[in-house]
Amino acid sequence: MGEQTLLEALRLAPGDTCVDVGCGDGTAVADLTDAHLKTIGVDSDPAAIAIARARTPDAVFHVAPSDDLPLEDESVDGYHAARLFHLLADPRPTITEARRVLRPAGRIVLVGQDYGFLLLHSDDPDLTDVVELGLESRSVAPRAARGFRDLLLDAGFHDVEVVVHTEVVTDHRRLADQLAEAATAAVDKALITRADADGWLAEQADRGRRGRFLAVAPTLQVSGTR
Ligand SMILES: C[S@@+](CC[C@H](N)C(=O)[O-])C[C@H]1O[C@@H](n2cnc3c(N)ncnc32)[C@H](O)[C@@H]1O
Repeated sequence: MGEQTLLEALRLAPGDTCVDVGCGDGTAVADLTDAHLKTIGVDSDPAAIAIARARTPDAVFHVAPSDDLPLEDESVDGYHAARLFHLLADPRPTITEARRVLRPAGRIVLVGQDYGFLLLHSDDPDLTDVVELGLESRSVAPRAARGFRDLLLDAGFHDVEVVVHTEVVTDHRRLADQLAEAATAAVDKALITRADADGWLAEQADRGRRGRFLAVAPTLQVSGTR
């Protein structure tokens, strides 16, 4: 375990080709293109692709699902997918497709936050656990990231590495909207009452005002070689 950049995990050289699947607004596409890679961004959402394309006109973009990429067999040197797999009911067709488009010895890098690892400091840790379950209920596969290593090994990837990047947030304002969404989701799922949710949110806001807000969110980066 330790710090490792995306480029180190991909083991790519300038001029190599890398696809970013579920590229969203194209942050990673821009970074990879700046690192002199030939970059392809893929996302199922045309609006996301429009934003990503405007940001990095030099990259190639496709609107397509992760399990049916408009790319030739063994045509890319690297494959990256960040914060995609918690949205997939079944990750296996996406991994099969990744393997198809990656050249032999090409590297895959999956990045994701496992919602089961989220730490939020509170005077009421039990209530906090339930609010976090509310947050999880909003994703199809909120704990997908802990399965990345299995997924790659099962698909025949080797040289599989797991590293963790941990984000520490002490500014309540940065997460206030997500906390409110999580608490509301817990209410919607009948896990807690609205009064519980409001009390919990008030405590978090108070922590923010007193400079005592603390959230710790590890992100897994799991890479492997085809
Ligand atoms: C949470 S965003 C992450 C965006 C970006 N990778 C990042 O890390 O900031 C997930 C993205 O995956 C896209 N997406 C969701 N399901 C997809 C699928 N089955 N195939 C391709 N893209 C998908 C969404 O449209 C969205 O842009």
